[in-house]
Parts: sequence; structure tokens; C-alpha cells
Amino acid sequence: MQRGVISMFRGLGVYVVAAGVLLVGLVSSQQLRAGDQPRVKELIKNTCASCHRFEGKPDSRFKLKAPDLMWAGSKYQRTWLIGWLIGKEAPLYAKGYRWDLSQEPAKHMTVSEAEANGIADYFEKHYKDRRVKVGAFDVSKVTAMEVEFGRGAYKAHACIGCHVIEENGTIVGGPQSASLVEAGRRYNMDWLYRFGQNPQDFTPHSGEFLADATDPQLRAVIGFLAVQGVKDFKYYEPWTSKEFKTASVDRGKLLYKEYCSQCHGATGHGDGPAASGLKPRPAVHANMAFDKLPMEYLYNVVNHGGRAVGKSTSMPYWGLTIGQRGVADVIAYLKATFKGGAEAAGAPSGVCPQPRNTQQAPSEFLAKANPLPASAEHVQAGRKLYMETAKPLACMNCHGTRGDGAGPLGGGLIPPPRNFTCGATMKDIPDGQLFWTIKNGSPGTGMMAFADMRDQEVWQLILYIRSLAQ
Ligand code: HEC
Ligand code: HEC
Ligand code: HEC
Ligand code: HEC
Repeated sequence: MQRGVISMFRGLGVYVVAAGVLLVGLVSSQQLRAGDQPRVKELIKNTCASCHRFEGKPDSRFKLKAPDLMWAGSKYQRTWLIGWLIGKEAPLYAKGYRWDLSQEPAKHMTVSEAEANGIADYFEKHYKDRRVKVGAFDVSKVTAMEVEFGRGAYKAHACIGCHVIEENGTIVGGPQSASLVEAGRRYNMDWLYRFGQNPQDFTPHSGEFLADATDPQLRAVIGFLAVQGVKDFKYYEPWTSKEFKTASVDRGKLLYKEYCSQCHGATGHGDGPAASGLKPRPAVHANMAFDKLPMEYLYNVVNHGGRAVGKSTSMPYWGLTIGQRGVADVIAYLKATFKGGAEAAGAPSGVCPQPRNTQQAPSEFLAKANPLPASAEHVQAGRKLYMETAKPLACMNCHGTRGDGAGPLGGGLIPPPRNFTCGATMKDIPDGQLFWTIKNGSPGTGMMAFADMRDQEVWQLILYIRSLAQ
């Protein structure tokens, strides 16, 4: 440990404080107990404060030796803080905190577990930041969809340029500033939310990258950070809330008339006055079986709109307009009213050969061939995605369990879903075309984009789809 600390000092060009190292040794050898707050105070003043500031105004990183700790009582989750102080946590700055002085990350000094607990207590007592509103960000209300939005915003606002995160098992992003790989275990989310509202209040030059974000966008980014490094994060499911338990079909009927019928039509036939110019056409609700759909999808498409589920932006997001109770009520109305079963308004899906006017994929896609063998293992993996796991919605909900296009939503889409059982139509469609349509959606139709799906999964799906052709 000593060597690490000394080399850090050298890196910083601060030999003087090397005496502090001796002190650390001294204090820990006396086995400080957590409850011994005067001695904890001494440790902080004599050792920690030789690098960290505990008071003063926010200042540039280039004038500091270490991150400021005057808000340490609000910033961290206790288990992370203790882990950090006893040396069990991953480094935060891949290039060293002061990368202008040293290229090397230095090993942080460690204390005993009892000392770490004492320090955590001391921080909570003396370094609470009054600007941080307790309960401002409720981690128990973070939904999976919000985290997806946050992921998008994290990239759109360039956060990834300076802060690394983990994606599918690899570290991605620039190592310029603090690693956010463990953000969900590290930060107190109330602090993080306050930080995001104006980073300059904590660290000048830390980037005003969220300054143009709306509050929902900031919350989505914090939600995204809240799951980083957290195994089995428990997402909030809004459709289990009390609004849904007490939803009213009658109130939903009024909402449908006021907000949905101009496009979807008074009787759900997709023929409202505002429908004529729209491509894709508004869904024909009368031909859809809503009680067979996963609630998660139904909630997301109504609350967050078409775009959130890879569909057309012409399907608006209703959460802000009609609130959670309204969303719950209108969904109750859809489920009670539209049970599907009527023949599709357009060409029936099951016909074969099936008329096909799908836009042609760009040539670089058309040239692609499936790199996977049609092994039982891959076909089975494709089947699982098709039937259950594909996000935002499993294929069978439109294309049907048999692949003939007769899924719960299939009858309400114009044009209808592709009939995969129809060999006569499918044999002329190249692999690369199928690949492109799955990733990109079919513009102007109800076929959504599965943009986040991994290539390997798309190819597995294609193997499965091809196995359905007769
Ligand atoms: C030799 C200088 C030095 C000493 C002494 C030191 N630290 Fe640090 N500390 C750092 C640096 C530099 C970082 C930035 C992370 C890194 O590079 O390891 C850091 C990071 C931290 C962090 C995480 C800060 C954040 O929000 O990113 C905490 C908490 C912390 N130190 C607490 C302490 C405590 C408590 C003590 C005393 C027991 C202490 N440090 C002693 C230099 C020091
Ligand atoms: C140009 C580089 C850059 C970009 C882009 C950037 N940051 Fe930062 N960020 C910094 C720097 C520098 C700091 C100050 C902390 C430090 O000294 O490393 C910081 C600090 C932070 C901290 C506090 C770190 C800590 O533990 O004290 C968080 C959280 C954070 N940024 C999140 C974000 C988010 C979210 C975005 C995108 C909206 C973003 N950053 C974009 C450079 C950047
Ligand atoms: C401005 C026109 C418009 C209004 C108003 C509108 N929708 Fe839609 N809706 C659409 C369009 C267009 C689609 C088809 C989107 C697609 O397939 O990409 C759609 C599709 C849907 C779908 C089917 C999604 C799917 O996966 O195929 C549901 C459910 C839905 N809307 C519910 C509603 C509800 C409930 C309301 C009222 C609260 C409403 N819509 C109001 C235009 C509208
Ligand atoms: C919300 C309904 C819906 C869902 C869910 C859906 N599809 Fe589709 N799909 C359609 C519609 C509608 C079409 C017809 C589009 C057209 O005519 O261009 C279609 C067409 C296709 C085509 C035909 C491409 C072509 O070039 O002819 C493929 C392949 C396809 N879907 C694959 C999938 C896969 C794989 C999934 C699941 C990962 C899926 N679809 C999920 C509605 C859906």
C-alpha cells in the first residue's frame, strides 16, 4: 500500500505530504473503532484532508489533488463507500485523477473496516449537502422503458465520450472522467439528480451536457445510471399500480372518444377523420385482441407512444396528456371492447402467395447471407425470441404462433404481417432483406424496428422463420 501511495504523490508532484503516509500506518495500527468519532475526525483531518478538500467552493479538477468531499455525506451509498475505503472497489479514474500530471492510476490508500465505518458515520453527520433534497429521485419507480430512454440520452448527450460504462460485458466509452460502471452501487441517487440539475454547483468544467435536457430526460439518465453495476435490478411496473387496479372502462370510453377516435375511428376501425394522410395507417383496433397482449407493451405504446416501441411517431405518447389514470382507463376500455376475431380490414394474412410491397433493403444488406448454420440449437434460439423474448414485442403477437400472420395484433394492421408459412412468397426474399426489415422495420407499415437486437439473434430468427415455410 505504502508504495502505491508514495508513487501517487510522486505523480502529483507532492512529496511533502509523504509524512501523512507514516501517520496512516500509525493510526491503523492502533485499531480504531467505528464509534470513536474524535479519532475518526483526527484521521480525516490529518490524512484524508492532505489530498481531499472538505470545505470551500467548487473548483477545477486541475487545481485539486483529489475529488472534493464536502458533500460526501450525501454523495455515496454506504456499502460502496466502505468498500472503496477498504480497497475492495474498482478504480474510478483509468488515467489517474490528474491525468495532466501522471498517466498512471494510483492505488488509493486503505483503512480498516472499522475505520471505514467510522468515516462513513462521520461523513453522514458532518458532510450532508443541504442542496440535495432527500427523496427527490425515487429509485423504486424506475421502469425498464425509462432506462432504455436513459441509455439513448446517455449516448445522445455525449456522456459516453468521457465516462465509461459496461455494455454486454465490455467496457465502452472514454476514460476521461469518473467511471460510471458501478454508478448504481456508488451514488446516492438524490445527490446524482441534484448534480445533474447543475453539475457546475459541484465541479466546474464537468460539462453542462445535461443543461438542455428536460426533467424527464434527466430522470431517465439517472434511471439508466441507477442500474449500472446492479445485478437483478427490480424495475417498477406501472401496470401494477393502483390506477390500474381501479381502472374504469366507462371513463376509458370517454377518453377513447376524445383522444383516440380521430385517428382510430369511433368504432375502432382505423377510419377517423385524421387517419387519411397517415402512413402507416392507424391500427384497426376492432380487429385486435387486446386481452392477449403483454401489458408491458400495451402500456408502453399508449403511455410512451409509437416511437418508444420502434413504431411510427404518428402514434402519440399519451402519458403527459391523460395521466396514469387515463392510460389505465383507456387500456381497460381497449381490453373490454376489442377482442379481435373479425376478418382483417386489408388483405387477410393467411393468403398465399401474399401480395408484397415492402421497400427494398439497401444493397449492402441485400448482399448479406446468414452466417449461421441451420442447427437445431440456432433454430430453437430463434423460436424463443419469436414466441417470447424479442423486445419491444415478441413476433408472434403479430405474425402468429404458426407464422401465418394471425397474432393478436395481426388482424388490425394494414398491410398485414408477412405470412411466413407461405413458401411461394418467402422463397423470393433474400436473407439480407429479412435482416434489414427486422433491424429497421418496414417503413410505412406496422412492422416495427428491432434496432437493439444483436446480429446473431436476428440471424437465429431468420433461421426460425425460414423453418416455417411450407
Ligand atoms: C494521497 C492522496 C489521497 C489521500 C491521502 C486520500 N485520498 Fe481519497 N482519493 C484520492 C484520489 C486521487 C481520488 C480519486 C480516485 C482515484 O484516483 O483513486 C480519491 C477518491 C476518494 C473517494 C471517491 C471520491 C469520488 O467521489 O470520486 C473517496 C470517498 C475518498 N477518496 C475518501 C478518502 C478518505 C476518507 C481518505 C482518508 C482516509 C482519503 N480519501 C485519503 C486521493 C487521496
Ligand atoms: C467532455 C467530457 C465530459 C462529458 C461529455 C460528460 N462529462 Fe461528466 N464529468 C466530466 C468531468 C471532467 C467531471 C468532473 C469529475 C472529474 O473531475 O472527473 C464529470 C463529472 C461527472 C459526474 C460526477 C462524477 C463524480 O463521481 O464526482 C457525473 C455523475 C457525470 N459527470 C455524469 C455525466 C453525464 C450523465 C453526462 C452526459 C449527460 C456527462 N457526465 C458528460 C466530463 C464529462
Ligand atoms: C394522430 C393519430 C393517432 C391518435 C390520436 C391515436 N393513435 Fe394510436 N396509432 C396511430 C397510428 C398511426 C398507429 C400505427 C403505428 C404503427 O403501426 O407504427 C397507432 C397504433 C396504435 C396501437 C397499436 C400498436 C401496435 O402495436 O400496432 C394502439 C394500441 C393505439 N394506437 C392506441 C391508441 C390510443 C389508446 C389512443 C388514444 C389515447 C390513440 N392510439 C390515439 C395513430 C394515432
Ligand atoms: C406490431 C406487429 C409486428 C411485430 C411485433 C412484428 N412484425 Fe414483422 N411484420 C409486421 C407487418 C405488418 C409486416 C408487413 C410489412 C410489409 O408489408 O412491408 C411485417 C413484415 C415482416 C417481415 C417481412 C420482410 C419483407 O421484406 O418482406 C419480416 C421478416 C418480419 N416482419 C419479421 C419479424 C420478426 C422477426 C419479428 C419479431 C422479432 C416481427 N416481425 C415482429 C408486423 C409485425
